[in-house]
Amino acid sequence: MSNPAGRAGSGARTCLAIMLAAGEGTRMKSGRPKVLHEVAGRSMLGHALAALRDAGASRVAVVVGPGREDVADETRRFLPDAEVFTQTERLGTAHAALSAATALERAEDDVVIAFADTPLVQAATFERLRASLSEGATVAVLGFEAADPFGYGRLVTDESGLASIREERDASPEERRITLCNAGLMAIRGDRALALLRAVGNRNAKGEYYLTDVVEIARRAGETVSVVTAPEAGVMGINDRAQLAEAERIVQARLRRDAMKAGVTLVAPDTVFFSLDTEVAPDVRVEPYVVFGPGVRIESGAVIHAFSHLEGARVASGASVGPYARLRPGASLGERARVGNFVEVKNAEIGAGAKANHLAYIGDATVGAGANIGAGSITCNYDGFEKHRTEIGKGAFIGTNSSLVAPVAIGEGAYVGSGSVVTDDVPADALALGRGRQAVKQGWAKAFRDKASARKIKEKSKEPVSS
Ligand code: UD1
Ligand code: CA
Repeated sequence: MSNPAGRAGSGARTCLAIMLAAGEGTRMKSGRPKVLHEVAGRSMLGHALAALRDAGASRVAVVVGPGREDVADETRRFLPDAEVFTQTERLGTAHAALSAATALERAEDDVVIAFADTPLVQAATFERLRASLSEGATVAVLGFEAADPFGYGRLVTDESGLASIREERDASPEERRITLCNAGLMAIRGDRALALLRAVGNRNAKGEYYLTDVVEIARRAGETVSVVTAPEAGVMGINDRAQLAEAERIVQARLRRDAMKAGVTLVAPDTVFFSLDTEVAPDVRVEPYVVFGPGVRIESGAVIHAFSHLEGARVASGASVGPYARLRPGASLGERARVGNFVEVKNAEIGAGAKANHLAYIGDATVGAGANIGAGSITCNYDGFEKHRTEIGKGAFIGTNSSLVAPVAIGEGAYVGSGSVVTDDVPADALALGRGRQAVKQGWAKAFRDKASARKIKEKSKEPVSS
């Protein structure tokens, strides 16, 4: 999905975007590459790529570390036609950009360089950077006022604008006091990008090729370098887990605001967690402490009661979930269906008006409209090797504490007696009983009590009297 309004902003100019996604991110202390860590249920790389796509980049090149098939796969998931390049050695951001040199050789009007560890940047911000180029700048840098500038490159300005960007480790004490920082994103005129990047050296504290040196090089050549600023909440970079949590906080606040603006009732917004792709219709009510994992769609008028967890699930209008319910991938609740406390539903359709109000597991099943699943009922869907399906017909009644051993089908309108273990199909309108038969012995309890208490009295009378 591209953003036609955004595209109009940069006229008919073409754009090559280079996304830097190599490197493990040592400060994350993780076995997973940094850019695959998630914010609001989506990898940072996925966020960054979606913004580029929405900004209408004509071509996207993604630079990944050697052997990082996982990062390449995630790239293709969001942008199937992105070109993937490998940075064989991690020698810095300019070096990473040059790993896509063959893409840069086919110069586009604009080149945008983006970081996959900067997931909050939105399409409009890329557009503003590109607009600077169409106004005559050779290089446009994205800057922000940092609450805590530690670790960011500082924007060093002079009388004619941005003079250079100084990395934390290379900065003088005065430069470290600068709070205007480099967000990392940069737009460069397409016909200058390759030459500027190739002019970057590695004489600095880290011995890396810094993308940021492009600024000083362009200035020395008498070219215009401009700064576009954005609020920190829209541009922050993620190097460690604390910053990851901060980004999550920012995105969640945005998603909650968007949901409420769209007509969703959040009783305690700060306790509700969304994924970026959560779809909640107007007039849905969400009670406190609800978590929406990826892939959830809730239709109008549904209620999600407190302490429920939903993922990959659809809830039709007027349905009710929870409190304390869990909907796992493939759960689909029909209109006015009810899934109550301590009920788990996975890969199962619950028909319109059907109910599972308490303590049940429904997995790999179809539950017909109006059926009633009693408390403690379980679909036994797994034999240790394979999953099997349970079909429950319309209006069927599954008595409490029943085990439905799949594959098995319960016909329309059938009854399953409480406590049954059902291994054979049940015809429509039949009653299935699969449990031990109850025996009743008249007077047995009274006779037992009389005998037992008589024995106790006899034993007591034999005890020696204590002095
Ligand atoms: C970088 C900027 C800094 C800016 C900050 C904003 C440079 C030299 N520094 O610092 O000015 O304030 O981002 O968040 O550009 N990467 C590669 N290959 C490499 C090195 C990095 O692909 O060889 C990728 C990383 O995966 C990451 C991005 O480039 O997505 C930025 O690298 P990182 O090491 O996080 O740079 P910072 O030190 O944060
Ligand atoms: Ca970073």
